[in-house]
Amino acid sequence: MVAKEAETILPDGREYTMRRSLLTLHRWIALIATPLFLLITLTGVILAFRPILADLGSSASVYSVPTEQVAALVERLPGNAIRDIQTLDENSVRVSGVGDYALDSGALIGDGSDPLQSFFGTVQNLHKSLLLRADWLTQTLTYLMLGVILAGVFLGLPRIRNTLIGWHQMLAWGLLPLLILIPFTAVLMTLHIGAPELPIKPGGGRVDMQQALARVSEYPGGEHLVAIRGFKGGSMLVTLAEGRLVVTADAITPLSDEPYWPKELHEGTWAGAWSGSLNAIGGLVLVGLTLTGALSWIRRTRGNQLQLREREATTLVAFASQTGRALALAQDTRQLLQQAGEKVDLMPLGNLGAADLAAYRQILLLVSTTGEGDTPDSLRGWADTLRGEDMSEVRFSLLALGDRGYSHFCGGGHQVRDILLECGALELTEPVEADGDPAEYWQQWLSTLSPVIGLSLVVIPDGGGCEACTATLIERSRLEQGNDGGESYAIRLSVPEHLSFSPGDLLSVKLAEGGERLYSIGSSSQVTPGEIQLTVGLLRYVDDQGQEQLGRGSSEVCLNWQPGSEHAVSIRHHPGFNPPEDESTPVVLVATGCGIAPFLGFIEQRAAAGPNRGPIWLVFGNRYREQDYFYRDYLQRQVEAGVIQQIDTLFSRDGERQRYVTERLVERGEQLLEWLFQGGRLYACGRASTLGYSFDQALRRILSDAGLSPEQVASTLDEWSRNGVVKRDFFG
Ligand SMILES: Cc1cc2nc3c(=O)[nH]c(=O)nc-3n(C[C@H](O)[C@H](O)[C@H](O)COP(=O)(O)O)c2cc1C
Repeated sequence: MVAKEAETILPDGREYTMRRSLLTLHRWIALIATPLFLLITLTGVILAFRPILADLGSSASVYSVPTEQVAALVERLPGNAIRDIQTLDENSVRVSGVGDYALDSGALIGDGSDPLQSFFGTVQNLHKSLLLRADWLTQTLTYLMLGVILAGVFLGLPRIRNTLIGWHQMLAWGLLPLLILIPFTAVLMTLHIGAPELPIKPGGGRVDMQQALARVSEYPGGEHLVAIRGFKGGSMLVTLAEGRLVVTADAITPLSDEPYWPKELHEGTWAGAWSGSLNAIGGLVLVGLTLTGALSWIRRTRGNQLQLREREATTLVAFASQTGRALALAQDTRQLLQQAGEKVDLMPLGNLGAADLAAYRQILLLVSTTGEGDTPDSLRGWADTLRGEDMSEVRFSLLALGDRGYSHFCGGGHQVRDILLECGALELTEPVEADGDPAEYWQQWLSTLSPVIGLSLVVIPDGGGCEACTATLIERSRLEQGNDGGESYAIRLSVPEHLSFSPGDLLSVKLAEGGERLYSIGSSSQVTPGEIQLTVGLLRYVDDQGQEQLGRGSSEVCLNWQPGSEHAVSIRHHPGFNPPEDESTPVVLVATGCGIAPFLGFIEQRAAAGPNRGPIWLVFGNRYREQDYFYRDYLQRQVEAGVIQQIDTLFSRDGERQRYVTERLVERGEQLLEWLFQGGRLYACGRASTLGYSFDQALRRILSDAGLSPEQVASTLDEWSRNGVVKRDFFG
């Protein structure tokens, strides 16, 4: 196994270089030629309708008329303008551009034009020579198109995925024979391969229409004519009921009846409407490929230039994306960080040097893989610019996007990581490798990262609903009894009665100066419709200049809002942190400080439930028992009412033996496991920087104290998270 991996990880240099060159050729030729490719393919699609219309529209009868009568007609007409005559029925002919004539009376019966044919004629001219007589250019483009398709084939088999480039590849491979057929037959035509040999000697001499008709009428079998058309070289092509002749100044030569296969295949004329339709589809796919290829390139280059900067940003989200996934996730990552109150820059990694990277406290990297384990194009040569730099100031965490279907899984991400580590950068977390759809891996990455960088990066699933409305402040009361620094508030808001929310959902508050903040809802619309309960801590911090600052969101809610004032809010459902649907499920609620916020709603819901309600075990921690035991009376009443079975409280500054909730959890590990193994659920809510980090450590400790091996501990924790046995809501 190890040997096999080592073998596949070592890139085969030659094959790799070849693929890269092929990709470059494929991409750049196609991009440069895009307008002309589109012109040729679109006109080709239109021309494919010629056999379709001919097949559907005509009775397919071929008429012939006496050649002598045609010669007599031509004699009466001004000779120079006549290049093409064809029969319309047994008694009339069309002299293209001159008129339609009845042969017996010589009367003019039409203007000699066929709008459809002349439209097709113009389109064909565009298709063959761009209306510029530039046959050489269209021929060159044909070779290039074939080259682009073949280079694409050698780039490898497609993978099924719903992206622009995924469709590009699947379309190309799905209809490959048809795609190749069209330019391939065109190339054969330009090389005259498969063409019936024209028995015209070079310099055979010009012949005019009148002479040609006179000579044909005397030629054996030439008495009846279907059509006559002038060739470029001055000779005439005559179609008889049986066979065709080429007439030059000094000879009449029968043309072989062999089909000209490349031409018939290229024009789709070999089976009438069917073959025409096939060619129309082929042409449309060529148009589609040109467009999807060009569009995905435009998107990528645009995306790779995206830069969003904030003043005094401390966190950088940097991305390197080939087809846009890493970029989209980077944008979402930035948004989550901002919601957590962080100042964030979003930049393409390829634009940044060592000094740029060192300017941030932490860097979140999202890097995808392309080619054969290669970094996206935007990082080409980037690693070389870093080599030898001292990057010991840089702290980063990596989400590598890839696909296990390729032999060098997440190779791009690994290359980036390797160079950063080589330059001494510090890695904040283990890298996370996303296989295929990265959404889940991204969430996993964020949840690992959250406690490390001390921010709550809660991903709210899409479609969770977001009902906007106005909330009115009913009441705000300070929770601490003393004046020792912290300030937290219980806040009651009234909202429209129809609004539906559950404890653990989030209330998004629109801030006066723009932006939003999310607060955990501690009530249930089923129990108290139209009333939302929040617990909000006023955030204080010291900025770079040593000045004390207040959090923008929390100061607005805790200090500026006045009773009766109205505010724009919306509900963000957070199914990952709602109480269990089955009210008989035992729940262990672990909260520190304002982390008690959602649990008030859990308790309220259980209090309103019938006697079958399951037990609650609350573990609450804060600083001082006397000052910071939030909602003490209410909680005591719930214990007396039998809603809460057990409360453990820990106060870190009271000088007691145990200071933190996690210490108590470890001490009561056996009891905790008993609750969980009996179907209980464990919820934890608090600051990411404190509880976020220590909580998982406590769980690990409890499981290993219970005799589990490190592997079993890790897999049990994973399983608990996956199955919703343990749920976390940590905030910044
Ligand atoms: C042409 C091509 C080559 C790829 N090569 C690899 C590869 O060698 N290893 C890998 O793990 N993933 C490979 N992938 C998968 C991508 O890395 C994966 O689809 C990723 O999610 C794309 O992210 P992006 O849209 O940000 O570029 C390749 C994808 C494409 C389209």
